[in-house]
Amino acid sequence: MSTLSFTLVCVDCGASHPGLEVRYRCACGGTLDVVHDRAALVGRLSFDLFDRRLASKEPADRSGVWRFRELILPLTPEAIVTKPEGNTNLYRSESLAAWVGIDDLAWKHEGENPTGSFKDRGMTVGITVAKTLGMDRVACASTGNTSASMASYAANAGMKSYVFIPEGKVAFGKLSQALAYGATTIQIAGGFDAAMRLVQEACAARGVYLLNSINPFRIEGQKSIAFELLQDLSWSVPDWIVIPGGNLGNSAAIGKGLMELLDLGLISRVPKIAVVQASGANPFASAFKAGTPVVPLASAETRATAIRIGDPISWRKSLRGVTAGGGTVDEVTDQEILDAKAKLDASGIGAEPASCAAVAGARKLRAGGVIGRGDRVVGILTGHLLKDPEIVVDYHRGALSGITSSFANPLRRSEPTLKAVLAAMGD
Ligand code: F0G
Repeated sequence: MSTLSFTLVCVDCGASHPGLEVRYRCACGGTLDVVHDRAALVGRLSFDLFDRRLASKEPADRSGVWRFRELILPLTPEAIVTKPEGNTNLYRSESLAAWVGIDDLAWKHEGENPTGSFKDRGMTVGITVAKTLGMDRVACASTGNTSASMASYAANAGMKSYVFIPEGKVAFGKLSQALAYGATTIQIAGGFDAAMRLVQEACAARGVYLLNSINPFRIEGQKSIAFELLQDLSWSVPDWIVIPGGNLGNSAAIGKGLMELLDLGLISRVPKIAVVQASGANPFASAFKAGTPVVPLASAETRATAIRIGDPISWRKSLRGVTAGGGTVDEVTDQEILDAKAKLDASGIGAEPASCAAVAGARKLRAGGVIGRGDRVVGILTGHLLKDPEIVVDYHRGALSGITSSFANPLRRSEPTLKAVLAAMGD
Protein backbone atom coordinates (compact mmCIF):
# COMPACT_ATOMS: atom_id res chain seq x y z
CA MET A 1 0.00 0.00 0.00
CA SER A 2 1.27 3.44 -0.85
CA THR A 3 1.15 6.15 1.80
CA LEU A 4 -2.42 7.03 2.49
CA SER A 5 -3.23 10.36 0.97
CA PHE A 6 -6.96 10.58 1.46
CA THR A 7 -9.42 11.17 4.28
CA LEU A 8 -13.14 10.66 4.78
CA VAL A 9 -14.99 13.93 5.20
CA CYS A 10 -18.62 14.33 6.31
CA VAL A 11 -20.89 15.83 3.66
CA ASP A 12 -23.08 17.42 6.36
CA CYS A 13 -20.76 18.71 9.13
CA GLY A 14 -17.32 18.61 7.50
CA ALA A 15 -15.73 16.42 10.21
CA SER A 16 -12.71 14.45 9.01
CA HIS A 17 -12.00 10.73 9.60
CA PRO A 18 -9.02 8.50 8.75
CA GLY A 19 -9.02 7.28 5.14
CA LEU A 20 -9.12 3.51 5.55
CA GLU A 21 -11.42 2.20 8.25
CA VAL A 22 -14.77 0.45 8.48
CA ARG A 23 -16.98 3.53 8.49
CA TYR A 24 -19.96 4.52 6.34
CA ARG A 25 -21.25 7.57 8.17
CA CYS A 26 -19.98 10.43 10.31
CA ALA A 27 -20.83 10.52 14.03
CA CYS A 28 -23.46 13.15 13.11
CA GLY A 29 -25.14 10.67 10.72
CA GLY A 30 -23.98 12.38 7.50
CA THR A 31 -22.60 10.46 4.53
CA LEU A 32 -18.88 10.58 3.75
CA ASP A 33 -16.73 11.72 0.85
CA VAL A 34 -13.29 10.39 0.04
CA VAL A 35 -11.17 13.55 -0.15
CA HIS A 36 -7.86 13.13 -1.95
CA ASP A 37 -4.65 14.96 -1.15
CA ARG A 38 -4.85 17.68 -3.78
CA ALA A 39 -1.21 18.70 -3.34
CA ALA A 40 -0.12 15.14 -4.18
CA LEU A 41 -2.06 15.24 -7.45
CA VAL A 42 -1.94 18.74 -8.83
CA GLY A 43 0.45 19.05 -11.77
CA ARG A 44 1.27 15.32 -11.63
CA LEU A 45 -1.50 13.93 -13.81
CA SER A 46 -2.12 14.33 -17.51
CA PHE A 47 -4.54 12.94 -20.06
CA ASP A 48 -1.45 11.62 -21.90
CA LEU A 49 -0.67 9.34 -18.95
CA PHE A 50 -4.20 7.85 -19.07
CA ASP A 51 -4.00 7.47 -22.86
CA ARG A 52 -0.63 5.68 -22.65
CA ARG A 53 -2.14 3.14 -20.25
CA LEU A 54 -4.64 2.13 -22.96
CA ALA A 55 -1.80 0.29 -24.68
CA SER A 56 -0.62 -1.51 -21.54
CA LYS A 57 -1.23 -5.19 -20.71
CA GLU A 58 -1.10 -4.67 -16.92
CA PRO A 59 -4.44 -5.65 -15.26
CA ALA A 60 -4.71 -2.30 -13.46
CA ASP A 61 -4.11 -0.38 -16.70
CA ARG A 62 -6.60 -2.52 -18.62
CA SER A 63 -9.37 -1.68 -16.16
CA GLY A 64 -11.48 1.33 -17.08
CA VAL A 65 -11.49 2.12 -13.37
CA TRP A 66 -7.91 1.56 -12.20
CA ARG A 67 -6.45 3.18 -15.31
CA PHE A 68 -7.38 6.38 -13.45
CA ARG A 69 -6.12 5.04 -10.11
CA GLU A 70 -4.52 8.24 -8.82
CA LEU A 71 -7.99 9.83 -9.00
CA ILE A 72 -9.78 6.76 -7.62
CA LEU A 73 -7.79 5.42 -4.65
CA PRO A 74 -4.02 5.36 -4.22
CA LEU A 75 -3.55 1.61 -3.57
CA THR A 76 -0.74 -0.48 -5.02
CA PRO A 77 -1.75 -2.48 -8.14
CA GLU A 78 -1.18 -5.80 -6.26
CA ALA A 79 -4.02 -4.99 -3.84
CA ILE A 80 -6.57 -4.60 -6.61
CA VAL A 81 -9.41 -7.07 -7.32
CA THR A 82 -10.31 -6.44 -10.96
CA LYS A 83 -11.92 -8.41 -13.78
CA PRO A 84 -11.19 -5.81 -15.45
CA GLU A 85 -14.20 -3.48 -15.71
CA GLY A 86 -15.19 -0.46 -17.76
CA ASN A 87 -13.88 0.01 -21.31
CA THR A 88 -17.49 0.38 -22.37
CA ASN A 89 -18.48 1.62 -25.81
CA LEU A 90 -19.96 4.93 -26.85
CA TYR A 91 -22.77 4.38 -29.36
CA ARG A 92 -24.58 6.66 -31.76
CA SER A 93 -27.77 6.05 -33.70
CA GLU A 94 -29.14 8.50 -36.25
CA SER A 95 -32.69 7.22 -35.93
CA LEU A 96 -32.62 7.52 -32.15
CA ALA A 97 -31.03 10.97 -32.28
CA ALA A 98 -33.81 12.07 -34.63
CA TRP A 99 -36.48 10.69 -32.27
CA VAL A 100 -34.91 12.38 -29.25
CA GLY A 101 -34.37 15.59 -31.25
CA ILE A 102 -30.67 16.08 -30.48
CA ASP A 103 -28.15 15.98 -33.33
CA ASP A 104 -24.99 15.17 -31.35
CA LEU A 105 -26.15 12.39 -29.07
CA ALA A 106 -24.02 9.47 -27.82
CA TRP A 107 -24.76 6.66 -25.37
CA LYS A 108 -22.12 5.21 -23.05
CA HIS A 109 -23.15 1.61 -22.54
CA GLU A 110 -22.34 0.61 -18.99
CA GLY A 111 -24.30 -2.60 -19.55
CA GLU A 112 -21.10 -3.84 -21.18
CA ASN A 113 -19.36 -4.21 -17.82
CA PRO A 114 -18.51 -7.79 -16.73
CA THR A 115 -21.76 -8.41 -14.82
CA GLY A 116 -23.86 -6.27 -17.15
CA SER A 117 -24.16 -2.98 -15.25
CA PHE A 118 -22.21 0.10 -14.18
CA LYS A 119 -22.07 -1.30 -10.64
CA ASP A 120 -18.86 -3.19 -11.43
CA ARG A 121 -16.95 0.09 -11.49
CA GLY A 122 -17.77 0.82 -7.86
CA MET A 123 -17.59 -2.81 -6.81
CA THR A 124 -13.99 -3.39 -7.89
CA VAL A 125 -13.03 -0.59 -5.51
CA GLY A 126 -15.43 -1.67 -2.73
CA ILE A 127 -14.18 -5.27 -2.77
CA THR A 128 -10.54 -4.15 -3.00
CA VAL A 129 -11.04 -2.03 0.13
CA ALA A 130 -12.88 -4.90 1.88
CA LYS A 131 -9.88 -7.14 1.16
CA THR A 132 -7.42 -4.46 2.28
CA LEU A 133 -9.36 -4.06 5.54
CA GLY A 134 -9.27 -7.84 6.08
CA MET A 135 -13.04 -8.30 5.79
CA ASP A 136 -14.21 -11.73 4.62
CA ARG A 137 -17.98 -11.10 4.47
CA VAL A 138 -19.80 -8.40 2.50
CA ALA A 139 -23.45 -7.40 2.11
CA CYS A 140 -25.74 -5.04 0.25
CA ALA A 141 -29.38 -4.16 -0.24
CA SER A 142 -30.20 -4.04 -3.91
CA THR A 143 -32.78 -3.66 -6.63
CA GLY A 144 -30.68 -6.29 -8.42
CA ASN A 145 -27.60 -4.95 -10.16
CA THR A 146 -25.51 -4.11 -7.11
CA SER A 147 -26.20 -7.59 -5.74
CA ALA A 148 -25.23 -9.27 -9.02
CA SER A 149 -21.99 -7.32 -9.11
CA MET A 150 -21.14 -7.76 -5.44
CA ALA A 151 -21.87 -11.50 -5.53
CA SER A 152 -19.54 -11.93 -8.48
CA TYR A 153 -16.64 -9.86 -7.12
CA ALA A 154 -17.01 -11.45 -3.67
CA ALA A 155 -16.78 -14.90 -5.27
CA ASN A 156 -13.64 -13.78 -7.15
CA ALA A 157 -12.08 -12.55 -3.91
CA GLY A 158 -13.11 -15.62 -1.90
CA MET A 159 -15.52 -13.71 0.33
CA LYS A 160 -18.97 -14.66 1.56
CA SER A 161 -21.76 -12.36 0.38
CA TYR A 162 -25.26 -11.54 1.64
CA VAL A 163 -27.86 -9.89 -0.54
CA PHE A 164 -31.08 -8.20 0.68
CA ILE A 165 -33.60 -7.68 -2.11
CA PRO A 166 -37.20 -6.43 -2.30
CA GLU A 167 -39.42 -9.50 -2.68
CA GLY A 168 -40.83 -10.00 -6.17
CA LYS A 169 -39.37 -6.76 -7.52
CA VAL A 170 -36.00 -7.83 -8.90
CA ALA A 171 -35.69 -8.63 -12.62
CA PHE A 172 -34.82 -12.27 -13.27
CA GLY A 173 -31.51 -11.62 -15.01
CA LYS A 174 -30.23 -10.00 -11.82
CA LEU A 175 -31.76 -12.43 -9.33
CA SER A 176 -30.31 -15.34 -11.23
CA GLN A 177 -26.84 -13.77 -11.08
CA ALA A 178 -26.93 -13.36 -7.28
CA LEU A 179 -27.95 -17.01 -6.87
CA ALA A 180 -25.49 -18.27 -9.46
CA TYR A 181 -22.51 -16.46 -7.94
CA GLY A 182 -23.35 -17.99 -4.58
CA ALA A 183 -24.67 -15.07 -2.53
CA THR A 184 -26.92 -15.81 0.43
CA THR A 185 -29.97 -14.09 -1.03
CA ILE A 186 -32.73 -12.87 1.26
CA GLN A 187 -36.01 -11.54 -0.09
CA ILE A 188 -37.38 -8.83 2.18
CA ALA A 189 -41.14 -8.49 2.30
CA GLY A 190 -40.95 -4.76 1.63
CA GLY A 191 -39.34 -2.37 -0.84
CA PHE A 192 -35.70 -1.44 -1.41
CA ASP A 193 -35.85 1.23 1.31
CA ALA A 194 -36.73 -1.37 3.96
CA ALA A 195 -33.94 -3.64 2.70
CA MET A 196 -31.49 -0.72 2.84
CA ARG A 197 -32.41 0.06 6.47
CA LEU A 198 -32.11 -3.58 7.48
CA VAL A 199 -28.80 -4.28 5.78
CA GLN A 200 -27.16 -1.40 7.68
CA GLU A 201 -28.41 -2.86 10.96
CA ALA A 202 -27.47 -6.42 10.03
CA CYS A 203 -23.94 -5.40 8.98
CA ALA A 204 -23.45 -3.59 12.30
CA ALA A 205 -24.82 -6.58 14.26
CA ARG A 206 -22.66 -9.17 12.46
CA GLY A 207 -19.50 -7.22 11.56
CA VAL A 208 -20.13 -7.65 7.85
CA TYR A 209 -18.74 -5.05 5.40
CA LEU A 210 -21.46 -2.96 3.75
CA LEU A 211 -21.08 -2.45 0.01
CA ASN A 212 -23.99 -0.20 -0.91
CA SER A 213 -23.10 3.16 -2.44
CA ILE A 214 -23.33 4.70 1.03
CA ASN A 215 -19.85 3.16 1.18
CA PRO A 216 -17.74 6.10 -0.06
CA PHE A 217 -15.26 3.83 -1.87
CA ARG A 218 -17.99 2.58 -4.21
CA ILE A 219 -18.52 6.17 -5.30
CA GLU A 220 -14.81 6.57 -6.04
CA GLY A 221 -14.93 3.69 -8.53
CA GLN A 222 -18.09 4.93 -10.20
CA LYS A 223 -16.42 8.29 -10.87
CA SER A 224 -14.50 6.52 -13.63
CA ILE A 225 -17.58 6.63 -15.88
CA ALA A 226 -16.94 10.37 -16.19
CA PHE A 227 -13.20 9.94 -16.78
CA GLU A 228 -13.62 7.25 -19.41
CA LEU A 229 -16.42 9.13 -21.10
CA LEU A 230 -14.17 12.18 -21.54
CA GLN A 231 -11.36 9.91 -22.76
CA ASP A 232 -13.80 8.44 -25.34
CA LEU A 233 -14.41 12.02 -26.52
CA SER A 234 -10.64 12.71 -26.82
CA TRP A 235 -10.89 14.68 -23.56
CA SER A 236 -13.43 17.20 -24.80
CA VAL A 237 -16.25 18.13 -22.43
CA PRO A 238 -19.85 17.57 -23.60
CA ASP A 239 -22.61 20.08 -22.80
CA TRP A 240 -24.83 17.56 -21.00
CA ILE A 241 -24.56 14.17 -19.33
CA VAL A 242 -27.96 12.51 -18.79
CA ILE A 243 -28.14 9.89 -16.02
CA PRO A 244 -30.99 7.80 -14.58
CA GLY A 245 -31.36 8.29 -10.82
CA GLY A 246 -32.41 5.89 -8.04
CA ASN A 247 -30.35 5.83 -4.87
CA LEU A 248 -28.32 8.63 -6.55
CA GLY A 249 -24.86 7.16 -6.02
CA ASN A 250 -24.06 7.13 -9.72
CA SER A 251 -24.94 10.75 -10.47
CA ALA A 252 -23.13 11.73 -7.25
CA ALA A 253 -20.03 9.88 -8.44
CA ILE A 254 -20.04 11.32 -11.96
CA GLY A 255 -20.46 14.82 -10.54
CA LYS A 256 -17.66 14.31 -8.02
CA GLY A 257 -15.27 13.02 -10.68
CA LEU A 258 -15.94 15.98 -12.95
CA MET A 259 -15.53 18.52 -10.14
CA GLU A 260 -12.20 16.93 -9.21
CA LEU A 261 -10.94 17.17 -12.80
CA LEU A 262 -11.94 20.84 -12.78
CA ASP A 263 -10.24 21.44 -9.43
CA LEU A 264 -7.02 19.86 -10.71
CA GLY A 265 -7.11 22.09 -13.79
CA LEU A 266 -7.46 19.12 -16.17
CA ILE A 267 -10.71 20.49 -17.65
CA SER A 268 -11.89 24.09 -17.80
CA ARG A 269 -15.63 23.59 -17.28
CA VAL A 270 -17.98 20.85 -16.07
CA PRO A 271 -20.90 19.60 -18.17
CA LYS A 272 -24.47 20.09 -17.05
CA ILE A 273 -25.78 16.94 -15.38
CA ALA A 274 -29.42 15.92 -15.85
CA VAL A 275 -30.64 13.29 -13.39
CA VAL A 276 -33.83 11.56 -14.50
CA GLN A 277 -36.09 9.64 -12.12
CA ALA A 278 -39.20 7.55 -12.73
CA SER A 279 -42.30 9.56 -11.79
CA GLY A 280 -43.41 6.86 -9.33
CA ALA A 281 -40.05 7.09 -7.54
CA ASN A 282 -39.31 10.81 -7.85
CA PRO A 283 -38.34 12.28 -4.45
CA PHE A 284 -35.22 13.99 -5.85
CA ALA A 285 -37.06 15.47 -8.86
CA SER A 286 -39.81 16.81 -6.57
CA ALA A 287 -37.32 18.30 -4.13
CA PHE A 288 -35.28 19.90 -6.92
CA LYS A 289 -38.39 21.52 -8.37
CA ALA A 290 -39.47 22.78 -4.95
CA GLY A 291 -35.96 23.82 -3.90
CA THR A 292 -36.29 21.82 -0.67
CA PRO A 293 -34.47 18.86 0.92
CA VAL A 294 -35.61 15.42 -0.23
CA VAL A 295 -38.72 14.12 1.51
CA PRO A 296 -38.68 10.29 1.34
CA LEU A 297 -41.68 8.65 -0.32
CA ALA A 298 -43.69 6.22 1.81
CA SER A 299 -43.77 3.89 -1.18
CA ALA A 300 -42.18 3.95 -4.61
CA GLU A 301 -43.58 2.28 -7.73
CA THR A 302 -42.21 1.93 -11.25
CA ARG A 303 -41.76 -0.82 -13.79
CA ALA A 304 -38.12 0.27 -14.00
CA THR A 305 -37.47 -1.81 -10.88
CA ALA A 306 -33.77 -0.85 -10.68
CA ILE A 307 -34.79 2.69 -9.65
CA ARG A 308 -37.82 1.80 -7.53
CA ILE A 309 -36.46 3.76 -4.54
CA GLY A 310 -38.27 6.29 -2.33
CA ASP A 311 -35.52 7.31 0.09
CA PRO A 312 -32.30 7.92 -1.86
CA ILE A 313 -29.18 7.88 0.32
CA SER A 314 -26.89 10.05 -1.83
CA TRP A 315 -29.15 12.95 -2.80
CA ARG A 316 -27.01 15.63 -1.17
CA LYS A 317 -23.93 14.39 -3.01
CA SER A 318 -25.84 14.16 -6.28
CA LEU A 319 -27.17 17.70 -5.92
CA ARG A 320 -23.63 19.11 -5.72
CA GLY A 321 -22.77 17.82 -9.18
CA VAL A 322 -26.09 18.96 -10.64
CA THR A 323 -25.64 22.44 -9.17
CA ALA A 324 -21.96 22.76 -10.18
CA GLY A 325 -22.71 22.80 -13.89
CA GLY A 326 -26.19 24.34 -13.75
CA GLY A 327 -27.88 21.03 -14.59
CA THR A 328 -31.32 19.78 -13.67
CA VAL A 329 -33.38 16.93 -12.20
CA ASP A 330 -36.51 15.68 -13.90
CA GLU A 331 -38.88 12.73 -14.01
CA VAL A 332 -40.52 10.61 -16.71
CA THR A 333 -43.51 8.27 -16.63
CA ASP A 334 -43.29 4.51 -17.09
CA GLN A 335 -45.03 4.98 -20.44
CA GLU A 336 -42.28 7.38 -21.53
CA ILE A 337 -39.57 5.03 -20.21
CA LEU A 338 -40.97 2.03 -22.07
CA ASP A 339 -41.52 3.94 -25.31
CA ALA A 340 -37.92 5.20 -25.09
CA LYS A 341 -36.78 1.66 -24.40
CA ALA A 342 -38.57 0.34 -27.47
CA LYS A 343 -36.82 3.01 -29.57
CA LEU A 344 -33.38 2.42 -28.01
CA ASP A 345 -33.75 -1.36 -28.33
CA ALA A 346 -34.95 -1.11 -31.94
CA SER A 347 -31.90 1.04 -32.78
CA GLY A 348 -29.83 -2.07 -32.03
CA ILE A 349 -28.27 -0.58 -28.88
CA GLY A 350 -30.71 -1.79 -26.22
CA ALA A 351 -30.67 -1.48 -22.42
CA GLU A 352 -32.74 -2.34 -19.35
CA PRO A 353 -35.72 -0.14 -18.39
CA ALA A 354 -34.01 2.10 -15.79
CA SER A 355 -31.36 3.10 -18.33
CA CYS A 356 -34.12 4.22 -20.65
CA ALA A 357 -35.22 6.87 -18.16
CA ALA A 358 -32.15 8.70 -19.50
CA VAL A 359 -33.38 8.33 -23.08
CA ALA A 360 -36.89 9.49 -22.18
CA GLY A 361 -35.42 12.28 -20.06
CA ALA A 362 -33.18 13.56 -22.85
CA ARG A 363 -36.21 13.68 -25.16
CA LYS A 364 -38.35 15.46 -22.58
CA LEU A 365 -35.65 18.02 -21.76
CA ARG A 366 -35.12 18.64 -25.47
CA ALA A 367 -38.86 19.09 -26.06
CA GLY A 368 -38.99 21.54 -23.16
CA GLY A 369 -36.07 23.54 -24.60
CA VAL A 370 -33.78 22.78 -21.64
CA ILE A 371 -31.38 20.87 -23.90
CA GLY A 372 -30.75 22.48 -27.29
CA ARG A 373 -30.85 20.58 -30.60
CA GLY A 374 -27.19 21.47 -31.21
CA ASP A 375 -25.93 20.61 -27.71
CA ARG A 376 -23.40 17.80 -27.33
CA VAL A 377 -25.11 15.22 -25.15
CA VAL A 378 -23.98 11.90 -23.69
CA GLY A 379 -26.47 9.60 -21.97
CA ILE A 380 -25.47 6.83 -19.59
CA LEU A 381 -27.04 3.42 -20.26
CA THR A 382 -26.63 1.75 -16.90
CA GLY A 383 -27.65 -1.86 -17.50
CA HIS A 384 -27.81 -4.53 -20.21
CA LEU A 385 -31.02 -5.31 -22.10
CA LEU A 386 -30.90 -8.95 -20.95
CA LYS A 387 -31.09 -8.00 -17.27
CA ASP A 388 -34.86 -7.77 -17.65
CA PRO A 389 -36.03 -9.90 -20.60
CA GLU A 390 -39.55 -10.38 -19.21
CA ILE A 391 -40.54 -6.75 -19.61
CA VAL A 392 -39.37 -6.78 -23.23
CA VAL A 393 -41.52 -9.75 -24.14
CA ASP A 394 -44.50 -8.42 -22.16
CA TYR A 395 -44.20 -5.00 -23.86
CA HIS A 396 -44.13 -6.46 -27.34
CA ARG A 397 -47.03 -8.79 -26.50
CA GLY A 398 -49.02 -5.79 -25.25
CA ALA A 399 -49.29 -7.51 -21.87
CA LEU A 400 -48.28 -4.66 -19.53
CA SER A 401 -51.39 -3.30 -17.83
CA GLY A 402 -51.65 0.46 -17.97
CA ILE A 403 -48.97 0.68 -20.69
CA THR A 404 -49.69 1.24 -24.38
CA SER A 405 -47.21 -0.74 -26.43
CA SER A 406 -46.82 2.11 -28.93
CA PHE A 407 -43.84 0.59 -30.73
CA ALA A 408 -44.65 -3.12 -30.38
CA ASN A 409 -42.94 -5.74 -32.52
CA PRO A 410 -45.46 -8.52 -31.92
CA LEU A 411 -44.38 -12.14 -31.92
CA ARG A 412 -45.89 -13.97 -34.88
CA ARG A 413 -47.04 -17.57 -35.17
CA SER A 414 -47.23 -19.83 -38.17
CA GLU A 415 -48.40 -23.29 -39.15
CA PRO A 416 -45.42 -25.37 -40.39
CA THR A 417 -46.02 -24.74 -44.11
CA LEU A 418 -44.19 -22.49 -46.56
CA LYS A 419 -47.42 -20.70 -47.48
CA ALA A 420 -48.15 -19.89 -43.85
CA VAL A 421 -44.54 -18.85 -43.14
CA LEU A 422 -44.47 -16.51 -46.16
CA ALA A 423 -47.74 -14.96 -45.00
CA ALA A 424 -46.30 -14.52 -41.52
CA MET A 425 -43.17 -12.86 -42.96
CA GLY A 426 -45.29 -10.14 -44.58
CA ASP A 427 -43.62 -7.89 -47.16
N1 F0G B 1 -29.81 2.12 -13.57
C1 F0G B 1 -29.67 0.85 -13.16
C2 F0G B 1 -29.68 -0.22 -14.18
C3 F0G B 1 -29.51 0.56 -11.77
O1 F0G B 1 -29.37 -0.69 -11.39
C4 F0G B 1 -29.52 1.62 -10.85
C5 F0G B 1 -29.40 1.37 -9.42
C6 F0G B 1 -29.66 2.92 -11.35
C7 F0G B 1 -29.80 3.13 -12.71
C8 F0G B 1 -29.66 4.10 -10.46
O2 F0G B 1 -28.40 4.37 -9.95
O3 F0G B 1 -28.96 4.22 -7.55
O4 F0G B 1 -26.80 5.18 -8.31
O5 F0G B 1 -28.94 6.41 -8.71
N2 F0G B 1 -29.39 0.23 -8.90
C9 F0G B 1 -29.14 -0.06 -7.49
C10 F0G B 1 -29.02 -1.56 -7.27
C11 F0G B 1 -30.03 0.64 -6.55
O6 F0G B 1 -29.26 -2.03 -6.15
O7 F0G B 1 -28.63 -2.26 -8.20
P1 F0G B 1 -28.25 5.09 -8.53
